[in-house]
Amino acid sequence: MTDMQARHLKDYRAPDYTISDVHLTFELDPERTRVTARSTVSRLNSEATQLTLDGDELKLLSVSIDGKPCNDYQTTDSGLELPLPVDSAELEIVTEINPKANSKLEGLYLSDGAYCTQCEAEGFRRITYFLDRPDVLARYQVRVEAPLSDFPYLLSNGNLIAQGSLDGDKHYAEWQDPFPKPSYLFALVAGDFDCLNDSFTTRSGREVALQVFVDKGNLNKADHAMASLKHSMKWDEERFDLEYDLDIYMIVAVDFFNMGAMENKGLNLFNTKYVLADKASATDTDFHGIESVIGHEYFHNWTGNRVTCRDWFQLSLKEGLTVFRDQEFSSDLGSRTVNRIDAVKAIRNAQFAEDAGPMAHPIRPESVIEMNNFYTVTVYNKGAEVIRMMHTLLGESGFQAGMKLYFERYDGQAVTCDDFVAAMEDASGVDLTQFRRWYSQAGTPTVAVSHSYDAKSQRFELTLSQSTPDTADGSAKLPFHIPFDIELLDGNGKAIELRDEQGAQINSVLNLCESEQTFVFSQVPCEPVVSMLREFSAPVKLDYQFSEAQLTHLIRFASNEFSRWDAAQALATKLILENVARLQGGEACQPPKDLISAFEGLLGQTNADLAFVAECIATPEFAALVDASGKADVDALLEARAYHREQIGAQIQQVLADTYANLANEQSPTPASRALKNQCLSYLAAAGVPKAKALCQSQFDSADNMTDSLAALAAVALYKVPGADEMLKQFEQKWVKVPLVMDKWFALQGSRNDEDVLERMEYLCSHQAFSMSNPNRVYSLIGSFANRNPANFHKADGSGYRFLTERLIELNSLNPQVASRLITPLIQFQRFDVKRQELMKGELSRLLAMPDLAKDLYEKVSKALDA
Ligand code: TRP
Ligand code: ZN
Repeated sequence: MTDMQARHLKDYRAPDYTISDVHLTFELDPERTRVTARSTVSRLNSEATQLTLDGDELKLLSVSIDGKPCNDYQTTDSGLELPLPVDSAELEIVTEINPKANSKLEGLYLSDGAYCTQCEAEGFRRITYFLDRPDVLARYQVRVEAPLSDFPYLLSNGNLIAQGSLDGDKHYAEWQDPFPKPSYLFALVAGDFDCLNDSFTTRSGREVALQVFVDKGNLNKADHAMASLKHSMKWDEERFDLEYDLDIYMIVAVDFFNMGAMENKGLNLFNTKYVLADKASATDTDFHGIESVIGHEYFHNWTGNRVTCRDWFQLSLKEGLTVFRDQEFSSDLGSRTVNRIDAVKAIRNAQFAEDAGPMAHPIRPESVIEMNNFYTVTVYNKGAEVIRMMHTLLGESGFQAGMKLYFERYDGQAVTCDDFVAAMEDASGVDLTQFRRWYSQAGTPTVAVSHSYDAKSQRFELTLSQSTPDTADGSAKLPFHIPFDIELLDGNGKAIELRDEQGAQINSVLNLCESEQTFVFSQVPCEPVVSMLREFSAPVKLDYQFSEAQLTHLIRFASNEFSRWDAAQALATKLILENVARLQGGEACQPPKDLISAFEGLLGQTNADLAFVAECIATPEFAALVDASGKADVDALLEARAYHREQIGAQIQQVLADTYANLANEQSPTPASRALKNQCLSYLAAAGVPKAKALCQSQFDSADNMTDSLAALAAVALYKVPGADEMLKQFEQKWVKVPLVMDKWFALQGSRNDEDVLERMEYLCSHQAFSMSNPNRVYSLIGSFANRNPANFHKADGSGYRFLTERLIELNSLNPQVASRLITPLIQFQRFDVKRQELMKGELSRLLAMPDLAKDLYEKVSKALDA
């Protein structure tokens, strides 16, 4: 099983040969597309005599070198080898591929009849034999031929340089991309679309044509994507001083897509989910997601495309940085606090679990079996947190100076994470030597906090100590450089100025670099309440036993909104976990009194940011509670969490109902007002208060937008409000022809905690709107069952685990990348009880025994069973 071998960062070697120019011709055909690749190859290592090209599922038709047929090549499992003992050569390779049979959606495939490509990370080798690695940068010229009637649009990267008609019904187009790029940024699209046209004038006065291509009939759903693109272009000029570099920017939306979107040079491919939206069919969350993903792909043009990765171990070079950039974009355009909350939830609900599981890896992994497995919350989201910490340490101007130097040094090159940090360091003068450990060490550090106060000398001492548990990857655990942002509050909730022992004012961000450090503050008039890890200044866990009184104080008085939210979540978590302990001890749960009064206070604030209040009163997700528990008692946790919501809904039902009524009557509702209104509705439904049914029904019947319609539907479906099935049916009938809306319906069905959900899952898998070959449908129905339905997924008899495993077996051959994304909750079994662990491992063993297990699943399953 040679292809199950891991590759290691330490084995990186520069390529022996490179390709400077490539000319590709595609004669498109559903089952027999012919690809002719003419490459200018030059030798970099004068000792090299053999060229080894990557290839996967290709039918080789011919090879020629400098115009002469070549026959002494060899095809292997992973590609093609040919003798090439020369400094340069023109290589022509003709291959045939079958887009229709390509259910992996990697390489060239068909999505609803349109040809499209996905090459990152290693999909280009499924199109032609090539040096398919990011440190080989070539100029591309691409000719596409296809029948005119079905494929009026023939697109590729860069600028259109020629087009015309051919014999029969055929036509062709030729594209040239002036910027050398790695093969993973190649793209081709051929199909019939509706196209939204617009333009953007850059700061230096160049006009860029903007085009958004969507399935016919969807033109009216492309406006928000286009607006988001223009906002992104403007923002990148203003905040990062970066301008777009081609004369055209195209976005194509396709329904069959493994991930969110792809930043191919000048020709982004998008999952329809991140393009199509109108008020009737998309929620406020969808609109926000579109803006952020459009931004993300656009920002890649500089952070990813102009400067790319030397090798795939460096993925966070582009992804962590680009996520940081899209988060800043969303924060500058919308609510900074709410965006920060979203980012932190991604870390606490998913990244911490990854660190604690068998796939733990540093943001720059050291060993990889299947690269697709490393497009993770660690590389992306923790990667963005690492960039954010540098931003905190350097400040905006130091950070921007670092970015500028980074582009000055590396534009047009394929570089490493170390190169990025060096630019930041050199431009700012800040020493990042120790900080670099964030790139090489996996795991979630815990910062334990203790303090003492001496009233007489007015000295306050804060002792921070850090430790990082071992992780499955065995990476070293030396102390990290942790920026730790604090605030001291007095008894009236006023912030106390931070002064060091000499009395000098100091910054609120403490640099914790040792295993343990004590920070001394002077002129502290009273024993303070400490707001810690403000803004989540580092991706760590806190070990500090806040009292209820301290948390309530922070909820009211912390000067930073994020900290107030954090305190509210910490208090809810604490109270739920205390009830878990009571249940385990055979006692009854107790109502979350302090939280209830804090919520009344929050809901009573007239001038608050409503979206912020909605986040504050939200109940911590099951996943966050599992993380906070260490070892989770599923049944007690579910019971305590449900009790918690019922109590809140019942005890402040009047405030919730009044808030709901006020917001429902608003003349001009906003996403923020809807968020709070629907949070109230959800508590009322959870508590089963008598009027919940009527409120949900009337909101559902009268809603003119998907946010409200779906919120009402979710409230009845998830809290067993009478009439739920009837409403679900109505919704289904109305939307059965709109796949993205059916995804919401499937997701809701998959997360219902009713007894008969497994039977229903079987039926849903055969629903006319469902398809195992479409990743969006699969993530909606099966993903929600595995990730958002703990009661059924973790059923004590193992039926939930078995159901997921059966689907994984199907997906293993259909689309291993999707299978591998879905398996996550099954490999994170360490946090559950022994019985459940055994059941999960049993299913994993079943997978491991499969004769044709793809390496995507093999990597995860084998690591999980080794652990
Ligand atoms: N580079 C893409 C992004 O972050 C994501 C990506 C990687 C991707 N591999 C993919 C998208 C495969 C679709 C399919 O924006
Ligand atoms: Zn990205």
